Amino acid sequence: MSDITRFGVSLNSELLKKFDTLNEAKGYKTRSEAIRDLIREELVTQEWADKEHETVGVFSLVYDHHQSELSRILNHIQHENLDIIVSSTHIHVDHRNCLEVIILRGSSEKIRQITNKLSSTRGVKHGKLIMTSTGSKLP
Ligand code: NI
Repeated sequence: MSDITRFGVSLNSELLKKFDTLNEAKGYKTRSEAIRDLIREELVTQEWADKEHETVGVFSLVYDHHQSELSRILNHIQHENLDIIVSSTHIHVDHRNCLEVIILRGSSEKIRQITNKLSSTRGVKHGKLIMTSTGSKLP
């Protein structure tokens, strides 16, 4: 394990109570674990703020495949971005609807451009990007 530093945190007791209640509901055993995750979340957000930084994202997309030309357009956007799209999985949810999960790796700016383009394509019902990290800069 890497070097561990202990530090004290001064907090309003009401805020601490809410924090503990939240952590218990989430299943954290200690405040340290919860604080570590909050810090990592903030660091991932910072990575995404840097447009050039290479990062990874998971994008889910729900659409109606009966919508004319939609499947072809979505497929075309993905084929144009082979350097960024690492993997995709397609599930036929029901008679009309498809769910696609796409994993992207590249600059945060490029990932946002592609996922915005996919989301805004006519006929797409829901697009959601989870911005995560390669982990290379996270201790
Ligand atoms: Ni399908």
